[in-house]
Amino acid sequence: MDLTGKHVVVTGATAGIGRSSAITLAGLGADLTLLSRNTEKAEALASEIVSAGGRQPTLISMDMAVLDSVRDAARQCLDLNKPIDVLLNNAGVVNTSRVETVDGFEETLAVNHFAPFLLTGMLLPLLQNAPTARIVNVASDAHSFVKSMGFDDIQAVQSYKTFREYGRSKLANILFTRSLAKRLPESISVNCLHPGAVATSLGSQNDGFLSKLLPALLKPFFRSPDRGAETSIYLCQSDEVEAVSGAYFSNCKKTKPKPWAEDDAAAARLWTISEECVDFSYP
Ligand SMILES: NC(=O)c1ccc[n+]([C@@H]2O[C@H](COP(=O)([O-])OP(=O)(O)OC[C@H]3O[C@@H](n4cnc5c(N)ncnc54)[C@H](OP(=O)(O)O)[C@@H]3O)[C@@H](O)[C@H]2O)c1
Repeated sequence: MDLTGKHVVVTGATAGIGRSSAITLAGLGADLTLLSRNTEKAEALASEIVSAGGRQPTLISMDMAVLDSVRDAARQCLDLNKPIDVLLNNAGVVNTSRVETVDGFEETLAVNHFAPFLLTGMLLPLLQNAPTARIVNVASDAHSFVKSMGFDDIQAVQSYKTFREYGRSKLANILFTRSLAKRLPESISVNCLHPGAVATSLGSQNDGFLSKLLPALLKPFFRSPDRGAETSIYLCQSDEVEAVSGAYFSNCKKTKPKPWAEDDAAAARLWTISEECVDFSYP
């Protein structure tokens, strides 16, 4: 798909993989709408994009840890009344201790899964208005940190483990992608991806010596954000994936996720729970 003039909505464009993705997409001629919680960072990115010859992005404020903020941002997108050709659900968080959102949910699951679940559902009318549209969800091989969604304590109330909660949220991204693919009209595809191990600011908001030191120690072994964005960009624009939906990609290749990420019963259960938690029913 030639992205010149295509309307591409990106979450989490103010840092890391999302930032690289947005800059590349703008360079390919995309007309960006950036949904970000940090207005200053979003404005700085928009200036950088324009200075490099890209179109002026539309900036909308959205805190994905607050469902009302997601609803409000989605409504502002709907008010633009501009068909969406690509929705890149990229934003994500890792917390080393349990944080509860204002909506009463464990924050990793809320930001990484409930928010994009709600946002995508609310933006479907605009995706349907484009001749063809793509939804791209940034998941992770971290789904291998768990072996199931752990529905009995999905909000990690009984116990909290950083890798388990993050892994569970990324498993949710893959299960969501599978379920959504079955519900979408033929004109819209949805795929998800692992970007690789990428040197970004993921997890850097956490207190503690290790969360500050670890990224610096690991940086030489990790990909740059530009390399980390490659599979996202591939799924946003490559003609090779025009007819592919519901799949998981790594290094720009379709890949099999762990078996529990292909569990359709778990995907259906997660769907029901997600609709209840975000108080939104997909059409
Ligand atoms: N880095 C890796 O090795 C790796 C590996 C596999 C998958 N991933 C996935 O890649 C995606 C991007 O992560 P990254 O590594 O690029 O991390 P990052 O550098 O920390 O960037 C995360 C982005 O998400 C935004 N974000 C976080 N919480 C938000 C909230 N409550 N509301 C709105 N935006 C929020 C951040 O906004 P601010 O700028 O305001 O903080 C930032 O723009 C995530 O989905 C992550 O799970 C990363």
